[in-house]
Order: sequence, then C-alpha cells, then structure tokens
Amino acid sequence: MYLTKNEERMLDGEEGYAVKKSMEILVALGNIYGAEKLVKIGSVQVAGVSYHNLGDAGLEYLNELAKDGKVKVLTTLNPAGMDLENWRKLGIDEEFARKQNLVIDAFRKMGIIISCTCTPYLIGNLPIYGEHIAWSESSAVTFANSVIGAKTNREGGPSALAAAFVGKTPCYGLHLDTNRAPDTHVEVTAKLTTFSDWGALGYCVGKQVQNKIPYITGINDVSLDELKSFCASVVTFGSKPLFHMKGITPESEKHQPPKEKIVIDDSDIREAYEAINDDTEDIDFVCIGCPHASIKEIAEIANLLKNRKISPNTEFWVATSRPMKQLADKRGYTRIIEEAGGKFACDTCMAVAPLKGRFRTVATTSAKGCYYSRHNNMLTKMGSLEECINAGVSGKWS
Ligand code: F3S
Repeated sequence: MYLTKNEERMLDGEEGYAVKKSMEILVALGNIYGAEKLVKIGSVQVAGVSYHNLGDAGLEYLNELAKDGKVKVLTTLNPAGMDLENWRKLGIDEEFARKQNLVIDAFRKMGIIISCTCTPYLIGNLPIYGEHIAWSESSAVTFANSVIGAKTNREGGPSALAAAFVGKTPCYGLHLDTNRAPDTHVEVTAKLTTFSDWGALGYCVGKQVQNKIPYITGINDVSLDELKSFCASVVTFGSKPLFHMKGITPESEKHQPPKEKIVIDDSDIREAYEAINDDTEDIDFVCIGCPHASIKEIAEIANLLKNRKISPNTEFWVATSRPMKQLADKRGYTRIIEEAGGKFACDTCMAVAPLKGRFRTVATTSAKGCYYSRHNNMLTKMGSLEECINAGVSGKWS
C-alpha cells in the first residue's frame, strides 16, 4: 500500500505510540485487503465499549493507547455495558461499574465523545453523502452506507480506533464505488404494517441474500425508525452492510435491478416471526430501543404507557442515547414512563449489558435484539410496540 511521507513518519513512531500502533494496524489491513492507499475520513464510531466484552485485556490495551493517543476526527462511542449515571437502578454490580468507568475514562482521555449510542447519526455524528468514514457498529454502518450514502466498511473496534488516531482508513471494500453495486434484486410484495415487520423483513432479506448487496424494490413508504430497524436486522442476519432501496436510498438511482431475483412475500414474513419467536408465554423483561430509541419512539412508548403500570414481575427498559433521554425529560415522556414503572437504560443496550442469567424471556420490537438475547440464553418474543407494552403490563405474551 502506498504511504505518503507523513504516513511513513507516523508508522516510524514520530507521532508517538498510539499513532504508530494504529498505522501498523491500518497498513496490515490495507495489505490484506489490497488497498492502494489510505483515505481521509470525516468521522469514526467505535464499538467494543462494554467491559462485558472487553474484559481486563481490552481495558489494558485501551489504557496503553490512552497514554499518548488523541483522536484526529469526530469520534463517538457505541453503547457501554451500563447506564453511566443510573447503573444501580438497572441492577449492575459495583465491580462491573468500576471497571466500565475505567474503560470510559480511557476513551475520554483519547478525546472521544462519550456518546455511548448505536445511533450516532441521531446525536450529531451525521456524515454527508459520499463521505468516507470508519464506523464499527453494524446497524450504524448499514444506515450510513445505505440511507445516507456515506462510505464505510464494517470496522472492528481496534481498526476504527486506529482510524481515529490517524484520521484515515485503508481505501478498500465499500470505500470503492466498484464494490457498492447490488448483486441481487429483492422484490418485496409483503405487506408491512408494524414496526417489528421491518425487523422481520431484514431477517428474510439477510438470510436469503447472505453476504451480497440487495437492490430492494416494492417499498414506497418507510420512516427513519423503520429504516434503522431494517438496517440492524438485515446485516445481523446475513447481508453486507449496504443495500439499495429503489426510490428511497440515494445510491439506488445509480443502479439497475440485478438479474438474480428473489421475492419476499407475506409467508416469508410469517416464517421470520416463527423463527424468531420462541414458544413461551411469561415475559420477565421487555426492552424497546434496538437500535437506540429515537424521540419519536419514546413519545409512542409514553403514549401507550399513560395511566398503566408495568407488572411487578417484569423489568421494562427503554434503551436510548442520553440526548434523547434529555429531550424526553423536557417533553414529559420520562415522567410518564417512569411512573408506569419503566426504566431508561441510557448509554447501554440489551446486547452489551451483563444480562446473562438475569432474565428468562425478553419481549422486544427488534429482530437484532432477539438474536443477541438468545446469546444471553433468553427466550425471545418479537412483536409490535403495542404487543411489547402489553407484555410489560401483564407479564404475559398474548
Ligand atoms: Fe444498538 Fe445494542 Fe441493538 S448496539 S443495534 S441496541 S444490539
């Protein structure tokens, strides 16, 4: 891979340990994937923030980098393992909280914004069309590539961090227009009526296209929240972190539907629900906000919970970013949700909080949330927001 004089100096250690280490990672990646050069990036999203996933070895690595490492571009963080302010309310133990805070301290020292959300595009890290970025949260990567038309590979936590210290990333994969063309035409004839149907659609498309780029037709109307849910699901279940949706996503205009074609109809959506939903009735955990809930979703939750009470046998979380929670505070949604017995889980989520063994069954609107909850040994139910709220109130899935 070609390096400029300045990049060679960084590789030689002239800008210190963190930059040298980062250049080594980026050059190794570039050589593996055949990149010709590094490309400037506008922003970074760093995943791998939860102490639950990092452990002591990860914390030690971050502390080493934090000694002299400072990010060169706007850099935001993925969810951590706990709400950084109200972790006690969510049942997180003292030792975990202490370690998680050390992780956050290391990121803060590096100059990273302690945003702790998987929807950075809702809180100020919003790339523009065609901009190169280095993001490492699969749902956000898919949103940035597809809905915005920015360009990023699905980075790992260390390679995203390396890009942040250098301000560049190797130019390969989805940074190149030639690799962004669709491979498969997906015609959607299914009727999508609830929010969770978009997670089910993502399941169907991801499973069927497997590591290809779908060109999707048949969608005439979709909201930002539905797209964010679809992005999380489609990449979790198999596709590359890029899709084109005719008439909706900006790059779809550049392409024609490929010859290879699959059709997703109502029976596929039904089968997705059957595959995602386990055979269970009791619900002891409800989590809404995967990806992190927008202010619009929080308003809908508050509206559905008004004058109702969550079952004493059920824990109810709204996972969101702190800025969304602050808006919810001002609009009075927080009061309604908390009076009903719900809790806000800011900065964290159902996949990265240490939940294994705490709950038996989760109800959620999110297909991705179900996928990761199974890794936490929970039985899963995916349904509409109304069904999830009803499950929270009654403690039963009906
Ligand atoms: Fe976000 Fe966690 Fe879901 S990172 S997409 S809320 S699994």
